[in-house]
Amino acid sequence: MTEKNAAAYYDVHWQEEGYYYPPPDFVGQANCTDPSIYQRFSLENFPECFREFADLLHWDQYWHTILDTSDAPCWKWFVGGRLNASYNCLDRHLDAYKNKTAIHFVPELEEEPILHITYQELYRRVNETAALLRDFAGLKAGDRVTLHLPMTPELPITMLACARLGVIHSEVFAGFSGKACGDRIQDSGSEVLITMDGYYRSGKMLDHKEKADEAVEAAARQGQEVKKVLIWRRYPGRYSSPTPLVEGRDFCMDEQLPAYRGRIIAPVSLPAEDILFLMYTSGSTGSPKGCQHSIGGYLSYVSWMSKYVQDIHPEDVYWCMADIGWITGHSFIVYGPLALAASTVVYEGVPTYPDPGRPWRVAEELDVNIFHTSPTAIRGLRKAGGDEPKKYNFKFKHMTTVGEPIEPEVWRWYYHVVGKAGAVIVDTWWQTETGGFLCSTLPGVNPMKPGSAGPGLPGIHPVILDDEGREIPAGEGRAGNICIKNPWPGAFQTIWKNRERYVKTYYEKYCKDPKSTDWRDWPYLAGDAAVPEEDGYVRILGRIDDVINVAGHRLGTKEIESAALRVEEVAEAAVVSVHDEVKGIIPDLYVSLKPGHDPSEELAGKVSETVSDVLGKIARPGHVYIVDDMPKTRSGKIMRRILASISNYNTVGDVTTLANPHIVEEIRKQVQD
Ligand code: WT7
Repeated sequence: MTEKNAAAYYDVHWQEEGYYYPPPDFVGQANCTDPSIYQRFSLENFPECFREFADLLHWDQYWHTILDTSDAPCWKWFVGGRLNASYNCLDRHLDAYKNKTAIHFVPELEEEPILHITYQELYRRVNETAALLRDFAGLKAGDRVTLHLPMTPELPITMLACARLGVIHSEVFAGFSGKACGDRIQDSGSEVLITMDGYYRSGKMLDHKEKADEAVEAAARQGQEVKKVLIWRRYPGRYSSPTPLVEGRDFCMDEQLPAYRGRIIAPVSLPAEDILFLMYTSGSTGSPKGCQHSIGGYLSYVSWMSKYVQDIHPEDVYWCMADIGWITGHSFIVYGPLALAASTVVYEGVPTYPDPGRPWRVAEELDVNIFHTSPTAIRGLRKAGGDEPKKYNFKFKHMTTVGEPIEPEVWRWYYHVVGKAGAVIVDTWWQTETGGFLCSTLPGVNPMKPGSAGPGLPGIHPVILDDEGREIPAGEGRAGNICIKNPWPGAFQTIWKNRERYVKTYYEKYCKDPKSTDWRDWPYLAGDAAVPEEDGYVRILGRIDDVINVAGHRLGTKEIESAALRVEEVAEAAVVSVHDEVKGIIPDLYVSLKPGHDPSEELAGKVSETVSDVLGKIARPGHVYIVDDMPKTRSGKIMRRILASISNYNTVGDVTTLANPHIVEEIRKQVQD
């Protein structure tokens, strides 16, 4: 067995938890309470069962073929259909809901009032923005545009304006560096960058425009010219960045928009299989992958999941605390909730600013009844203010956890203290690639089990395989590679401009016949290790490959290591995942130096700075250890597993087969003593 797939199947030592049952008043109002739904979505009814998903949308032209597998494994859903995503999130709601709040914008500074944007107002702003993008920026259907926008209403407005025109948006998380943004501009081939001058984070106005200049430069170095940079201003009429505008390239949106006042742009009717957006995500090696999501399949999928897993009704106030710069925000702040005419909350800042009572004050003020966040945020709020929720008068009917496995201990705090033992919790397992949820309980149907995501959702058929492709039986406490047997409408279509990598990464391992156009021959390999349980639930253990999941978001080990290697003195770098009580996982970085250099605190600091400059703060290592040498196999491979054991204070095990066994004890002393 190689080092890499050592985690593919093994015994797992955790105790299964008992069930918690959904409260009767939740079940009484739930969008789905009928257990026979699983029969309706059984494999015998595949793919026709997904008609129900499509029927949540307005189609300009109804589709004729539900699933076309002729170009396997690039699946085409709802072929022949035409629609527009912006129309589905806005226009069709105006008759019934024009005066209803679409977006509650909560600025980070508490003294700034919350903004309530109605569907009518959102419709107007999206149309004017679309007019500007078309007539001023020259964008048209099929063009890519990179967004590097923080959490303000201008982000969903820009996304929907793009969707209205058929322009493919590629939003880069605002916390990412200018360089990371530039790489994604280059890969997507964007000629326009849309950004903001600044935004608030922990009470400080950040200079965000600075990153736009870096991004444009980085893209240019790689041969991609950005012709226009469009800048939303956090405060219209006032420029909040110290970084000057570049004449002829940079334009402030609020100065251009008055020319488009009142303009209505007919939504462009597009084939279901056209691309709605790209979302970049890290893999174990190589550059970030542009996950390509379709209009019809994706939008129908996130609508269905929002309705039945998030249990959103139009009268609900729904708050997903993720960032729209990640897939969670695309699917479950913007597209899913707006397609259902919900009121969705956009919060600008950090959850614990100015104090850990903030989320609960927001929930109280807006009467939020559906709450969605990650284990990292839950751990952070618990640590900073475990009793805070009790001080506020809010009541959730439904809560979500997403992004990484949640410890049962933390789950129970979420349930009892945040949920006041009266809300249902869904632990939703999915990925950037999958568009929407794969495994979770259906909140009005299945009981909850702390630490376990739940069974495959209706229409999703998971299977857990060992390295030889044998199914791991349920209830034996063994883990394997979790795969999905069948395609589903929300799945990404391919990796942008890299079909080969798409096939290799997600399908090659278990594909029975690479020439086959039968979907049964193409199980989807998610890349996570999971344990199948007796009751059909799965417990997700984490990534099987070399990806580090920080705060619920993936960072490639290779990306971090190559950033560290930018420091002149660094010879080798190895990054490992360390368990942290609050953050879940943080990266520890081990580096060795080129000859002639001595270790120093200053140098360790420089490495850490460089990593966060290149990739963004999210990648900042917990520790940087400068070691004399890396533990290596005889073939010269760095043994990350050993470094990880040291960082996590686990037993290192047998090291006698290493090329340099003595180094292990030396590093252990350095780190632990
Ligand atoms: C990876 C995907 C899904 C949106 C946010 C992250 C891990 C995700 C869970 C969960 C255990 C989870 C997996 C997955 N993950 N949700 N409920 N329980 N692990 O999206 O950056 O594409 O990361 O996050 O390891 O593969 P992403």
